[in-house]
Amino acid sequence: NGTRSTNIVWHKCSVEKNDRQELLQQKGCVIWITGLSGSGKSTVACALTRALHARGKLTYVLDGDNVRHGLNRDLTFKAEDRAENIRRIGEVAKLFADAGLICIASAISPYRKDRDACRSILPDGDFIEVFMDVPLCVCEARDPKGLYKLARAGKIKGFTGIDDPYEAPLNSEIVLHQEGEVCPPPDAMADKVISYLEAKG
Ligand code: PPS
Repeated sequence: NGTRSTNIVWHKCSVEKNDRQELLQQKGCVIWITGLSGSGKSTVACALTRALHARGKLTYVLDGDNVRHGLNRDLTFKAEDRAENIRRIGEVAKLFADAGLICIASAISPYRKDRDACRSILPDGDFIEVFMDVPLCVCEARDPKGLYKLARAGKIKGFTGIDDPYEAPLNSEIVLHQEGEVCPPPDAMADKVISYLEAKG
């Protein structure tokens, strides 16, 4: 229809994912961190990349907020743009995983079908979903960027959790949540993810 690529053929190279993984001595995968704004996604992503780096693993963080400064700067927060944001992050994460890296994607990714679509383009087991299970009231009380306040005042329309939905995951590989009233330190949450990765080899 003039807007999609047609007549294209996949070109294979002689150096493949396995060769790169062998070189790096690690397995490429995508760790997908989803949750409300202010739930701690970026903090955990940073703690995780630091902890894995210290173990000699090559990682890369794709943060929704950051990617929206460049690759996704043309996208808004309406549903179809959020879907495209997540699709692009998913495709880039897949490339990083194919390069042999442990790619940590952190984005609200509020719609289940968009997250599932990212999962579906990766080999089984290579997409590890981490749900930041932090209640809206806690995220709103933290309000690190003052955005919930603006959303409640009607100054931001379509804010996730306020007047735009967040569809919580049903079957995440990992759920990170508060213990009682307190949130575990980021390094402890990163350790939980690393334990999962170690258990899966
Ligand atoms: S999404 O829904 O996955 O496409 O969002 P994402 O790319 O992760 O970007 C989320 C950050 O954008 C800021 N922001 C908003 N979030 C939600 N809804 C609306 N309307 C909105 N407008 C701006 C907000 O700072 C989010 O940052 P985090 O890191 O999640 O707090």
